[in-house]
Amino acid sequence: MTGSSTPGPKIDTTAPHSARIWNYWLGGKDHYPVDREVGDQFAAIFPDIIAVARASRAFNARSVWYLAGEAGIRQFLDIGTGLPSANNTHEVAQRVAPESRIVYVDNDPLVLTHAEALLTSTREGACQYLDADLREPDLILKAAAQTLDFSQPVALMLNNILGHIPDDAMAYAIVSRLVDGLCSGSYLAVNDGTNVIRGKEFEKAIQVWNQASSVPYRLRSIEQIARFFDGLELVEPGVVSVPRWRPEANPFGVPAELDEFGGVGRKP
Ligand SMILES: C[S@@+](CC[C@H](N)C(=O)[O-])C[C@H]1O[C@@H](n2cnc3c(N)ncnc32)[C@H](O)[C@@H]1O
Repeated sequence: MTGSSTPGPKIDTTAPHSARIWNYWLGGKDHYPVDREVGDQFAAIFPDIIAVARASRAFNARSVWYLAGEAGIRQFLDIGTGLPSANNTHEVAQRVAPESRIVYVDNDPLVLTHAEALLTSTREGACQYLDADLREPDLILKAAAQTLDFSQPVALMLNNILGHIPDDAMAYAIVSRLVDGLCSGSYLAVNDGTNVIRGKEFEKAIQVWNQASSVPYRLRSIEQIARFFDGLELVEPGVVSVPRWRPEANPFGVPAELDEFGGVGRKP
């Protein structure tokens, strides 16, 4: 595990990367031909992926807005950060409360090279970046304690990363270990891909992904995603398709459901 000052990790431009393909679908600039090729193949089979990626980022921002605002949270542990995008967690949180403290965690070397863009904290707050693996929750909790005070509430964010832990037992154990490390009044935010709206196409596209990528992904059912919140009190409206999680007012009625479900839960 390293801090943000680690010099020049080697970037593999011959194999597709989760963070770079995600960036491509979001309309970003940080991707290589190999990422675009897999991203396009994927989107040809499951065109909703562009809307899924964008709705998912919007959920990220609305959930942080809720957590920093209504829930009064001042500390965030965002694991599986991805490449910097619009409305990164610290930007939204510090817009609400400039003293917010954020720890970002990812294991992709390219995300590490872009970490500086994630470390533009306000003077009153703090941002830290950890190059670490979700499969080592104890190491993450220990290193994050340099910036976060775990005796005070923390919002743990696991957005579009749990699908990268295909084994259910391992995924539930990791989340449970991380939540155990948080005090009462802390929160968990999760959203991830599902196979319930256009599941057949999404599953087919995931096969393309898994053949091309060294980091496999697995879609889950709504019930399987809801299980990550076991023992927590779900904030209204519960686990729903993310465009329907506290949507901003709009004149066009209830947004359509997408194969991306998530929610926010409070540790009692
Ligand atoms: C699809 S992106 C999601 C980015 C962001 N959380 C979002 O929802 O927009 C998944 C991120 O998880 C990271 N990731 C995948 N497996 C990981 C692991 N075992 N440990 C740490 N990060 C991981 C990838 O490098 C990538 O940046």
